[in-house]
Amino acid sequence: MRRQKVSLIGAGNVGASCALWLAKRGICDLVLVDIPQAKTMPVGKGLDLLQTGPIEGYNARIRGNADGSYEGTENSDVVIITGGLPRKPGMSREDLVRANQAVITDVLNKALPLSPDAIYIVVTNPLDTMTYLAHKHSKLPRNRIIGQAGILDSARMAAFVAQELNVSIENVQTVVLGGHGDEMVPLTRYSTVFGRPLTEWLPADKLNAIVERTRKGGGEIVNLLGTSAYYAPGAALAKMAEAVLLDSKLIAPCSALLQGEYGLSDICFGVPVKLGANGIEEIIEYKLTDDEKAMADKSVKIIRETMGALKF
Ligand code: LAC
Repeated sequence: MRRQKVSLIGAGNVGASCALWLAKRGICDLVLVDIPQAKTMPVGKGLDLLQTGPIEGYNARIRGNADGSYEGTENSDVVIITGGLPRKPGMSREDLVRANQAVITDVLNKALPLSPDAIYIVVTNPLDTMTYLAHKHSKLPRNRIIGQAGILDSARMAAFVAQELNVSIENVQTVVLGGHGDEMVPLTRYSTVFGRPLTEWLPADKLNAIVERTRKGGGEIVNLLGTSAYYAPGAALAKMAEAVLLDSKLIAPCSALLQGEYGLSDICFGVPVKLGANGIEEIIEYKLTDDEKAMADKSVKIIRETMGALKF
């Protein structure tokens, strides 16, 4: 049986950190690709990751390509698109739309002919808009393009909850839906600590503070680092790729192209999906209260405004 292969298009911080998390899982080989201007950088990162194997005990075959080459990516099982400009302080995800539209279309034009059967995972911001663009540009069946955001946003919320309550993260399960932006939709009613809803663990003011910090979680790190986060985004991507490679039927919040679900069409939006070998194998509809619906509507409005900046 041939080993499964994941190609990372974008060998920056997010791509490299995802590569490390995946290599450690021992479930696939890896190819790192970047733009021609990155020259030999992906080769260097690939070699560094390969040389980590004997220390960490992983066997992944890892290669990095120079000068923007896609050599070796053919017949990938999963292609992860991390390329694009990261957010700078003071810049919204929406500001990135024009620059990153060119990146996504270029990557798809090069990757798709080589890996026509792969599952594509997008993490480039503005996330929901770039995932939508990938659908429109590639015309792939909707199960085969998935946007990464909800696993990261839910993880941020879980980390804040565990810290606030001083409990193990193992006990915390959080659900964050909606767009990957400041109007995302953290569902406190569906978020639990050892099975008990968060609303019964924390007073409203503490809970609201966690919700707000989660919504601005990406921006908080941008302000601290001067660039986007990468460990947690890389880990979230690895988790999604793993679910596809192992056909694990993981239910996780991801940005999916909706066609009537949640009363929405022709938009990518963060909803619970089942991830397996066929990518998004099911979109799961949660019943939302009027308040939750109002939050989702706000998030949809912002995504549609951002989508308006796309040029076809
Ligand atoms: C973040 C970026 C990756 O939320 O959108 O950190």
